[in-house]
Amino acid sequence: MAATQSPSEPAGLDTRMRDVALFVRQAFRTFRATGAVAPSGPALAHSLARFIDEREDPEAPLSIMEAGAGTGPVSRAIAEHMRDGDTVDLVESNPDFADYLRGLLVTDPHLSALGDRARVHQCLVNDLGPDKRYDVIISGLPFANFTASEVREIMEYYFSVLRPGGHLSFFGYLYTKQVKAVIAPRADYLRQAQSSWVVEEWVNRYGIGTERILPNLPPAWIHHLRKPLDS
Ligand SMILES: C[S@@+](CC[C@H](N)C(=O)[O-])C[C@H]1O[C@@H](n2cnc3c(N)ncnc32)[C@H](O)[C@@H]1O
Repeated sequence: MAATQSPSEPAGLDTRMRDVALFVRQAFRTFRATGAVAPSGPALAHSLARFIDEREDPEAPLSIMEAGAGTGPVSRAIAEHMRDGDTVDLVESNPDFADYLRGLLVTDPHLSALGDRARVHQCLVNDLGPDKRYDVIISGLPFANFTASEVREIMEYYFSVLRPGGHLSFFGYLYTKQVKAVIAPRADYLRQAQSSWVVEEWVNRYGIGTERILPNLPPAWIHHLRKPLDS
């Protein structure tokens, strides 16, 4: 049985080791969907949660979605930045990660404090359905491993459930295209080039800022996008 931490205690070494062990096992088993070799570090996680702090109306609660929550490093940061009344849907396609996240809703000090304002959905993100509405979407999906049409379908879904004025923040790893140009089969390199053009298309249309997070393994970039008020 997992130990429960007190609310003032940060995620300890034991917890982090458990996260990493599960993540690495799943990365070996399903690398295409997992898309990384280690969970995100705290610098990346807190930068992704930026638009939970930078809210336009400080009185209005936010409806938040995290896509691809994995072992929950970003979910924990989201919970730390949330205020009274905010809600979060944690979406994860891998059933082992989804079970682990359900455990965190009980044992993690910040996530357990949310009570029924946090929910885990074990499904593909675009199977959440068309009726959802979010002010902030934080995506950890490994777009670099997807086809261009998969990326387009997910971006279209995000923007269909994002409220006007809402924010989407998502990340990827620096230099993956350059590394793939050297070591990957040509077909895989071309597939990634095509999916990155779709990402660029959305960033050119709605992007409001890009960050580089060097203290992460591997170093990452984040794109922040905003849905226009008149859409
Ligand atoms: C790069 S990992 C990120 C995990 C975690 N957010 C982090 O930062 O450490 C991507 C996660 O997305 C999940 N995933 C991949 N495709 C998905 C999809 N279509 N819908 C929901 N989750 C998905 C994977 O199972 C994996 O947990």
